[in-house]
Amino acid sequence: MFDVYKIRKDFPIFSELVNGKPVAFLDSAASAQKPFCVLQAMSKIYETAYANPHRGTYFFADAITEAYESARETVRQFLNARSTREIVFTRNATESINLVAATWARQNIKAGDEILISEAEHHADLVPWQQICLEKDAKLIVFPISDSGDFIKEEFLKRLNNKTKLVAVTGMSNVLGTVFPIKEITAAAHNIGAKVLIDACQYAVHYPLDVQDVDCDFAAFSGHKTYGPTGIGVLYGKAEILETMAPYQFGGDMVDDVTFERTTFADIPARFEAGTPASVQAVGLAEGLKYMRSLGFDNIIRHEEALTAYAESRLLTVPQLKIVGTAQNKGGVFSFAVGKIHPQDLAFVLNKENVAVRIGHHCAQPIVNRMGYNSLARASFGLYTVKEDIDALIGALLKAEKFFKDA
Ligand code: ALA
Repeated sequence: MFDVYKIRKDFPIFSELVNGKPVAFLDSAASAQKPFCVLQAMSKIYETAYANPHRGTYFFADAITEAYESARETVRQFLNARSTREIVFTRNATESINLVAATWARQNIKAGDEILISEAEHHADLVPWQQICLEKDAKLIVFPISDSGDFIKEEFLKRLNNKTKLVAVTGMSNVLGTVFPIKEITAAAHNIGAKVLIDACQYAVHYPLDVQDVDCDFAAFSGHKTYGPTGIGVLYGKAEILETMAPYQFGGDMVDDVTFERTTFADIPARFEAGTPASVQAVGLAEGLKYMRSLGFDNIIRHEEALTAYAESRLLTVPQLKIVGTAQNKGGVFSFAVGKIHPQDLAFVLNKENVAVRIGHHCAQPIVNRMGYNSLARASFGLYTVKEDIDALIGALLKAEKFFKDA
């Protein structure tokens, strides 16, 4: 039984009152709130088993090493990866993508090659490829999406050719909510010999990502969006590809043998985890993933689909409101504009009403501009979002619309 009101009790922040009133938190696409189990798992490590992993031989060091590696196993299961060797802990999804750009791409992209991305990419899945293309005299190719934000298969296929070495695409747009057909994209890219990276930052929060089924070569996501802590992210990479990649950073724990003359490097994934890792955060990340799994993705999807339908119908009752991103296959992310009201002004009124949304270009400036805006307001949902949050948003939007109309 998925009882969202019971689930909300797992999140301490929802009992917090601001100016004596609860907050309608509608900014989960930026960062999700954390359940008690995540907070408790992390504080338990600090209280009972904290040391530096992979280094000491005493009780605490063994305990944290065991906890860190077991977190890796939890991530492996979450993604259905073949082996924990394919799971690299990073700082966040941005670092995961930069790691691939700085290692695999630097080794494999040559002058004249092409990297294909969608028009809806977040800066984290755009700028690293743009920069490597500049460095290598390669080309960044962008496939357009429709005005409603839908994936257009023909536009994608048209740009895929034997110069394409990498397709980097989001699983779900953080601006439009569009869910991309990542399995189909991967199969088409593999047909012409290109590698595929999935930016699963939003996708992994709402849908099960089975990397063997999708068959992507790389996938990246962040702990803080999957109900875990900040400071930890994941890079999945197929073992046979990670094995060919040079280290990303150099330092402790990523080496095999070091002399003043030369260094040999550790096997994967340690080769990519230089320095003291974010072990406690990895434990928190694993706990967040276990929490989602315990609720069941089928239930989460059903709940979020109902909310998405409800939100769409309610948002359309607000005069002058335009939803930006109405793709057929769309998750719980709603960017919108209300007439000529500047999103900054809108957010000011919403904040007064204890409604938390994000405004701006959402770290995806090109897609916001392509949709005809410089800035948008965005409401985004998590597994704990309730209809009352959406009602609060609508109430506040109606107030704002009236206020600015009368002003
Ligand atoms: N990428 C995050 C967002 O969409 C920060 O808000």
